[in-house]
Amino acid sequence: MHGLKKPANADWTIPQDWAAYTPQEHRTWDRLFERQSAMLQGRASQAFLKAVDVLRLGQPGIPDFEVLNEKLAKLTGFEVVAVPGLVPDAVFFDHLAHRRFVSGRFIRTPEQMDYLEEPDIFHDVFGHVPMLADPMFADYMQAYGEGGLRAGSLHAIDKLARLYWYTVEFGLVREAGGLKLYGAGIVSSYGESVFALDDPSPNRLGFDLERVMRTRYRIDDYQQTYFVIDSFEELLRQTVETDFAPLYEALAVQEDLEPPTVLGSDRVYHRGTQARGR
Ligand code: PHE
Ligand code: FE
Repeated sequence: MHGLKKPANADWTIPQDWAAYTPQEHRTWDRLFERQSAMLQGRASQAFLKAVDVLRLGQPGIPDFEVLNEKLAKLTGFEVVAVPGLVPDAVFFDHLAHRRFVSGRFIRTPEQMDYLEEPDIFHDVFGHVPMLADPMFADYMQAYGEGGLRAGSLHAIDKLARLYWYTVEFGLVREAGGLKLYGAGIVSSYGESVFALDDPSPNRLGFDLERVMRTRYRIDDYQQTYFVIDSFEELLRQTVETDFAPLYEALAVQEDLEPPTVLGSDRVYHRGTQARGR
């Protein structure tokens, strides 16, 4: 039944059907979890690492959403709901605006340990859910959903999507011990969780809202630029306090920036060699 591409409900959610997972699928989760959690010690943000513990994501087997949601609801009021695959933008935003995060329920095969095209439950749950247990980040995600509904009517979803990409999926945060990972696309990837932090190839630049929304991104390889936020509190404050409508208008008449671009106005933590992209 897993992988069926038809929504059962108007909001596109389907039951997780936890009992249907095979022992091999549970073992795939365990292998992915062990490999990533070892890798992320000292690399992922404090908020992420703490939440992996608090949510008990290291218990054997694929998490059961009912069990997980009890913990998550107490921490931030967020909830994880299963969907058959990618959902329309408006559906995705509406769930976020109501503090629901949509997750795939299928898990990759053992042959796909390092690469897959569609987000699976390991990416969605291990990658995203820990940050949903952080109060600041949970508020950011909800506000993002509301902002997405608004961006739809302002014809600016492509610009707002870049903010999601460079924060929620591929963000870095500055902490006392140096730069740390929090983006779900990075922390759920064995290769990119080294590359994003340690490789000389990509740029690491200070986060700037308008600059990020001008910047195109790659979906076919590791990122050529990562943006570093000062804190989750600051990210939330800035995005909530800024009216995006004038930004969208300004961006509509500006040229997009290519992913490896470094501007004179950027705060440069590391100027990438871009050796990987060549
Ligand atoms: N403040 C944004 C707007 O005016 C909404 C938003 C909040 C977007 C937080 C992203 C994150 O549209
Ligand atoms: Fe994701």
